[in-house]
Amino acid sequence: MASVVTFSNNVNDVLADAIHTLRPSKVLVLVDSNTSRCVLPLLPILESAHVITIPAGEQHKSIDTLTHVWKQMQQADATRHALMVNLGGGTVTDLGGLAAATYKRGIPFINVPTTLLAAIDAAVGGKTGINFNGLKNEIGVFCDAVQVIISSCFFGTLQREELMSGYAEMLKHAMLTSHDELDRLLGQQIDDMDWDDFLSHVETSVNVKRDIVAKDPLENGWRRVLNLGHTVGHALESLALQRGTPVTHGHAVACGLVTEAVLSHMALQFPSPDLHHLATFVRNRYGAIHITCNDYPTLLQFMHHDKKSRDGEINCTLLRQCGEPVIDNNISEADMQTALDIYRDLMGI
Ligand code: GLY
Repeated sequence: MASVVTFSNNVNDVLADAIHTLRPSKVLVLVDSNTSRCVLPLLPILESAHVITIPAGEQHKSIDTLTHVWKQMQQADATRHALMVNLGGGTVTDLGGLAAATYKRGIPFINVPTTLLAAIDAAVGGKTGINFNGLKNEIGVFCDAVQVIISSCFFGTLQREELMSGYAEMLKHAMLTSHDELDRLLGQQIDDMDWDDFLSHVETSVNVKRDIVAKDPLENGWRRVLNLGHTVGHALESLALQRGTPVTHGHAVACGLVTEAVLSHMALQFPSPDLHHLATFVRNRYGAIHITCNDYPTLLQFMHHDKKSRDGEINCTLLRQCGEPVIDNNISEADMQTALDIYRDLMGI
């Protein structure tokens, strides 16, 4: 059943209402070392909850951390009527969702994302998971949170690059919506944000994802539109990691959006002015992820092995124009190399 999604900067009261309605036998709260220090003290309703803390960082989105969380749930004598509150970024909501979905065959959980990236993407849509054997989100289940509480009041303390990481997923949602929506985000004043005002932009963006997920919750087809920018984005992210110079997920997605907009222009006549507007924004606000043609074989290898690929073909979601996505486009290596050449030109590298 799809989650109730509440947009509010009064997180404590919304959480109190939810707990009052659900009447759990016990409340467990999953935090990482950052949200334990900076966010948990802001929520008095969780004062009496059983706190489970995991180390911060994507490298802890692992089977060992999941085992630790299951053990803590057991030690807290949590029954099937307990409630888990996942308070953190994507690692916490993904791993906490999986822990809750599997403990005693499943207990209810509430996601309270504290980063823009988690609010826009990870916390909504029912995907839970951990990384395994070197592969991202390799183990997981679809399971909806009973409620997702989305607020912008935690974003003021995010590092700029963390904020921009989430903003890339907002750009993706805007491209899936309309030319005007993309223009609006590309013109947004990001440096001096009014966070209360920003919550309405977050709501618009999250609702784009919710509408798509409602049509195809288990990703049998249409949900793949959400992969826009991610075939190239994941390859760039993996390349940067392999080089020992990791980039944020959103930085890679932003550069992936530019490259896949180039492919969209080549294959489906995606309008050139939108492509150039996007590329200028990404170049100025994110900067290029540097690649040369010597990196192409590695990038192509990553793309052939991407989870989205069916028969080893490179598969992308492309756009005829903003708001008109087309899923399951097979891209030849030659076209991808041309698109990467144009990406480098557009980004000035
Ligand atoms: N992150 C894309 C999805 O939830 O399907």
